[in-house]
Amino acid sequence: MRDCLKLIVGGLDGAKVVGEVAGPLDLVPEAFRTRPQIILMDLAGPASLQVLRDVSATLPEARVICLADAPSDQLVQAAVAAGANGIALKSDSPDQLFNAFEGARDGRRTLTAGLAAPILQHYLEILNRKRVTDAAIIETLAAAVDAKDASTGRHIQRVGHLAASLATYIDPALENNDDMRYGFVLHDVGKIGIPEAILLKESPLDEEEWAIMRTHPLIGVNIIAPLGLGDEAGQVVRHHHERWDGGGYPDRLDRYDIPLAARIFTVADTFDAMTNDRPYRQGLSIDEALREIGLKAKSQFDPGITEGFIDLVSDGMLEATAAALEATA
Ligand SMILES: [Fe+2]
Repeated sequence: MRDCLKLIVGGLDGAKVVGEVAGPLDLVPEAFRTRPQIILMDLAGPASLQVLRDVSATLPEARVICLADAPSDQLVQAAVAAGANGIALKSDSPDQLFNAFEGARDGRRTLTAGLAAPILQHYLEILNRKRVTDAAIIETLAAAVDAKDASTGRHIQRVGHLAASLATYIDPALENNDDMRYGFVLHDVGKIGIPEAILLKESPLDEEEWAIMRTHPLIGVNIIAPLGLGDEAGQVVRHHHERWDGGGYPDRLDRYDIPLAARIFTVADTFDAMTNDRPYRQGLSIDEALREIGLKAKSQFDPGITEGFIDLVSDGMLEATAAALEATA
């Protein structure tokens, strides 16, 4: 290893080896005597970290490259904190080691590729954990709407399940689309901004009240913006009241201009609203609701998606959803 390193140093313009020690305890006195520009040392646990600190304190102008076998993330972080300018693996190729030397000579902090990969992995895991936090925020927001719009009962969870099953049936590639599912759960989050006198009114809304009610998709888009979710979430929240014939709101989109996730969701949402009691009316039976949904294909709903929904209901989707909700109750 030493011979290999000497060859690498020899390949750097104007570089030469000025000293060599047998063990870490000799490093500081030897470095103090020879004043090297670059110090190369073994990194193997707490004792070497202390040597690293001592070297950095004694010769702050020297750049230190640590060579390690398979250091933990903590050891790498501690070495950087203790003053290491570069960290390389003993298994790195001569090219990578050469780059580490060059980097140290030029004052760059260098982690070789073999080391960077597990550290990147570590940060990806942290980002994934943040995703879980997002899920917790989303559940909390949805629960807040549920609590305010008490008449809907478990509408949000139920419709989330129904819409997810329908989405997977329409396009299996949507099965693991978290952003779309977040959109399903958060579709009515904008109702947080609608007065309870309107939200919980026990008689049909008048025109002015409807105008206020129709603002909830746009309020919802503003509420979820800081969550930084992917496009499908915003598409469902914004467009879940658009209609196939262009008569919906807020943007009066029609047909395939309405994003797929919103076209899927609106069928499941309307069906669930029809079959459950509202303050101003009794819910329809499943058969009655399916008939209504079928009649509204091509006016309110994408006909292909409507057909898929009716097929899924006859295949037992409602029972499966009820069982899934029971299991999480
Ligand atoms: Fe809505």
